[in-house]
Amino acid sequence: MRISGSTLVCGIVGDPVEHSMSPAMQNSAFSVTRLDYVYVPFRLSRGSARACTDAMREMGIRGLNVTVPHKVDIIPFLDWVDPRALRIGAVNTIVNDAGVLRGHNTDAAGFMRGLEGGGVDVRGMRVVVVGAGGASRAVTMALVDGGAAVTVLNRDAGRAAALAADVSRNADRAVDHGSLDEESLAVALRGASLLVNTTTVGMHPHTDASPVGAEHLRRDLTVCDIVYNPPETMLLRQARECGARAISGVEMLVGQGALAFELWTGVPAPVEVMRSAVREELARAAH
Ligand code: ATR
Repeated sequence: MRISGSTLVCGIVGDPVEHSMSPAMQNSAFSVTRLDYVYVPFRLSRGSARACTDAMREMGIRGLNVTVPHKVDIIPFLDWVDPRALRIGAVNTIVNDAGVLRGHNTDAAGFMRGLEGGGVDVRGMRVVVVGAGGASRAVTMALVDGGAAVTVLNRDAGRAAALAADVSRNADRAVDHGSLDEESLAVALRGASLLVNTTTVGMHPHTDASPVGAEHLRRDLTVCDIVYNPPETMLLRQARECGARAISGVEMLVGQGALAFELWTGVPAPVEVMRSAVREELARAAH
């Protein structure tokens, strides 16, 4: 990659950022498409969202991904926010057009891209979403918008109820909710064809944990995890072992990254190259 005086700068702001897969993923994409862009990590502490948007304008930074803890806090400092991002209440991608900052959320659409790539069409499908945090919000909204009937189960049932009420209000469609216990899981999964984990359970280094016991999995259930490290969580391994279709969190990561790349460059994203870069980076991090 040749960096010159005219190279356009993109990056990720968050805290922490040092384990982010996005620099490897986006730079591989810029490189293979021969675009004069570079992507760098910026550690930005909580409370610095305004300084970040000011710097973006002043320094002509073309685009940013936004991650924890800024996804919500950055919204008031943008010039325009995509209505879908506003509904989710979080921005993960900013595009700078000559000082005008536009915010998007590619997590929801990226998740749907990952599902579609795995051959899943959620229209009319019953889906169980485990977890009720920020990631669940984007995923649940995307599923409901896609025409799925969703049940949200969470360890803290009150949080599931709040999220379900919020999504229902925004989408004008009822969302079921409950606590993440054996009985609720069994009942909710009975008529479901897709299970999505949005909790952090199973994430490195706690790779021998799963949010849903193997006894709940069936061959005709598709299981999707948004945890991408490891690429095959215990939940996904158990799904694969019982003959179910398993979709890795790598697919959502690549999906959201591909959409961000397209917003910044206007060029179709080289998805295969991005997926390989993430898998290589994850393998490197594991050693
Ligand atoms: P994010 O924004 O990434 O979704 P978050 O808001 O911290 O992160 O949410 C993490 C999710 O993982 C929550 O649903 C959390 O459940 P609670 O709301 O009950 O805390 C879930 N989670 C984390 N550790 C868990 C565990 N050991 N068992 C079950 N759920 C867990």
